[in-house]
Amino acid sequence: MRESVLFEVREEHLDTGLRGIPVGHCVTSSVDPNKGLFYVGRPIQELSQKDPTEILYLLYFGEVGTDEQVLHFRQELRQRASLKTETVAAIERLPREGHPMDLLSIALLIAGIYEKTDDYQEDALNLIGKMPHLTALVINHHAGWGKTPSPEPELNYIQDFVRMLQAPIEKKEALIQAMRLFHVLSIDHSGGNLSAFVGKSVASGLEHLYGSVAASMTALAGPRHGRANQDSLAFLESIQKELGKNPSEEALETLLRAKLQNKEIFFGFGHAVLRVEDPRATVCYRFCEEHFPNDPKVQLAQLLRREAVRVLKENPKIQNPYPNIDAITGVMLSAAGFAFPEYFTVLFGFARSIGVAIQIVYERIEAREGKGLPIVRPKYLYKAR
Ligand code: MLT
Repeated sequence: MRESVLFEVREEHLDTGLRGIPVGHCVTSSVDPNKGLFYVGRPIQELSQKDPTEILYLLYFGEVGTDEQVLHFRQELRQRASLKTETVAAIERLPREGHPMDLLSIALLIAGIYEKTDDYQEDALNLIGKMPHLTALVINHHAGWGKTPSPEPELNYIQDFVRMLQAPIEKKEALIQAMRLFHVLSIDHSGGNLSAFVGKSVASGLEHLYGSVAASMTALAGPRHGRANQDSLAFLESIQKELGKNPSEEALETLLRAKLQNKEIFFGFGHAVLRVEDPRATVCYRFCEEHFPNDPKVQLAQLLRREAVRVLKENPKIQNPYPNIDAITGVMLSAAGFAFPEYFTVLFGFARSIGVAIQIVYERIEAREGKGLPIVRPKYLYKAR
């Protein structure tokens, strides 16, 4: 029987970033253009309030864990929470220069030098367990916020992460809640997002887990991908600077039209796959409404959510005028007390490194009846310049 045709590649599909071209299977998540993100077949809206370890269990094992199974998995990960002394010492010798995402990628390579076992599954569990410590260490070191306390395995890993983070924040309760939500929403976004695709591609050459995830974090660092949450907050703050803290709808509409006229990017709006408001953003807007209703940035983000869509919709060439998660996560983290935009993408990387690690484990030791996938090697057609 002739195999059903999944996709017909035509000349027009070349040089489009592989947009919409099926290249493999993803067992952790999927993204529907009109329904958004699903973790193992479950819509993200139904999962966003769950404990992060429940989500990790779901993504790692591909099924909902019983309370006992999740508890055991939590203990398993918390036993792996601490980086080796030599790893910490090497990371603390890094230059406190450049964007902290550079340090995150280097820190992952350093962790690989001192901690890798060359067993993808074992390294993935170790990496997932150690990411709270590694991420807090990278941020504290780069920011000059002092020594990072050792992990306390008896704590929930997001609570422990916020405790280890030495950011000068008085009340950390709101931040723990915001960080938990941001983390759960950011772990995975199907197999084709750039960070996941790059991490798996590097692993297809049999680079070890830490090196492959380090590469995925370099991919995440770009402003078109993970750094969009930092640039979206800067975009919103530039509007505040021009129009004041609480602009009218009319003033905002006029400014947005002028920006559109100047072909300026509306950071945080649109998406390569989604054709509706990102359900992850919807969850975050609601969280901000409930927890920070009087924060001027939250109020402007809500106004922008309406006005930008209205203005963008008028251009028929714009396939997706709606906000994605990056439009609101920086506002949410700032309102919760973590007003340090250069570290937003590192927080995204903390979550996404977990999803990428789990997808790498599938491709390396489960796919093709355990043989693993071949090295990624797409075809390019020669073209004279
Ligand atoms: C993500 O979460 O990775 C971003 O929305 C980008 C994408 O899905 O391609």
